[in-house]
Amino acid sequence: MTYWFNAPGLRNLAPMGSTSTARSLSGTFLIPKLFIGVNAIPERGGGIIRYILPYCTTKRAFIIGDRYVSHLSERVATAMQNGGFTTETWNRTEPEVPLTNVEECASAMTAFEPDLIVAVGGGSVMDMAKVAWIRYERPDITDLRTLSPMVPLGLRKKARLLAVPTTSGTGAECTAAAVLTDEVEHRKFPVSSREIVPDFAAIDPTFTMGMPPKLTAGTGLDALAHAMDNIIAGVSNDITDALAIRAIELVFKYLPRAYKNPRDREARLKMHIAATTSGMAFGNGACHLTHNLGHALGQVFKIHHGVAVGIFIIPTLQFCAPVTNKYLEVCKALEIKGKTDEESLANLISRVRQLLAELDLPDNLEGLGITREQFQSNLDRMTTDAYEDPSVFGSPRWITREECRRMYEYTFEGKDIDF
Ligand SMILES: [Fe+2]
Repeated sequence: MTYWFNAPGLRNLAPMGSTSTARSLSGTFLIPKLFIGVNAIPERGGGIIRYILPYCTTKRAFIIGDRYVSHLSERVATAMQNGGFTTETWNRTEPEVPLTNVEECASAMTAFEPDLIVAVGGGSVMDMAKVAWIRYERPDITDLRTLSPMVPLGLRKKARLLAVPTTSGTGAECTAAAVLTDEVEHRKFPVSSREIVPDFAAIDPTFTMGMPPKLTAGTGLDALAHAMDNIIAGVSNDITDALAIRAIELVFKYLPRAYKNPRDREARLKMHIAATTSGMAFGNGACHLTHNLGHALGQVFKIHHGVAVGIFIIPTLQFCAPVTNKYLEVCKALEIKGKTDEESLANLISRVRQLLAELDLPDNLEGLGITREQFQSNLDRMTTDAYEDPSVFGSPRWITREECRRMYEYTFEGKDIDF
């Protein structure tokens, strides 16, 4: 079995496809229809449900959640029922979405025959909904690991997808990708198709009010990593830049508040909007080195996705600085000054370090509790996984396998990247 992103033809062509020149040959901007605010999906029905109804003939909603937020999927089930839907709730999504778990979900979905799929949860639940939807509509696609983004799926003959995020970070409600876990290879891999961008999303901050501080910090950093990467990515454009910059401003202003006071309603609303805004940006642009390095680290050491990618924001900025000075746009938005570009970058990096400290997070792997021995014994595997991860294609500076290794070594100690 070869993962779709390791197919030789695609791997050779991908770096060209991620350049701004190639990207400008065609342009799409795919996002769901958004309902935003505290009443986006009211329990009495109405809101976004009234808008969705005409798209559904049988009005059968299959609601996907997990055991952590089952009270929220039940809340949505009540809202859907009051809005005229027959519902079934499946709260068995496992973290990191193992492939066998996808098959369980797809079987239950197929038995219910919905014309609306509703994802109520964080990134894993939304990813689960996207891929179970593929298996429901295309049972002939039996191996998601080999499914190329180029293959037309012909979705929406049976159902549409509504996303109701309950964390503020992944942006999965706006993206054309899902990350799954291959239990056989012990490895995460993405499934990507422009057809799996959800049709609708309810961005309701009341769904995030119960998030514990650690999860608030991790998911918020994920949103920041998406936006920071996107700004310097080769495929970014004026629209994604505007969204990413706004998301960055919101995260710096409101994430520490949401972290320190989980009941701060304004901070929760702003962070929910920041995550979706960042999702729109990188969903139509790219996130890159924070994510290929963070994916492999998170998988090996079982570190929360947002923390794992957030710790690579600084190394990524430093590594890419020789080929782009678009970080100056972030400096301008955050009113960070410097006499030279280098000084501005250094001041921006200090600001990111300050944010990490406010969230009680380190800027190095040692600070996450990883010992030198553990690090060394897993370095080869992380290096390979990070180098092969298709997120690398979005980086404005091409990274070699050896440089991936050095990025880990430097980040272990929190050293500035100087190569
Ligand atoms: Fe992410």
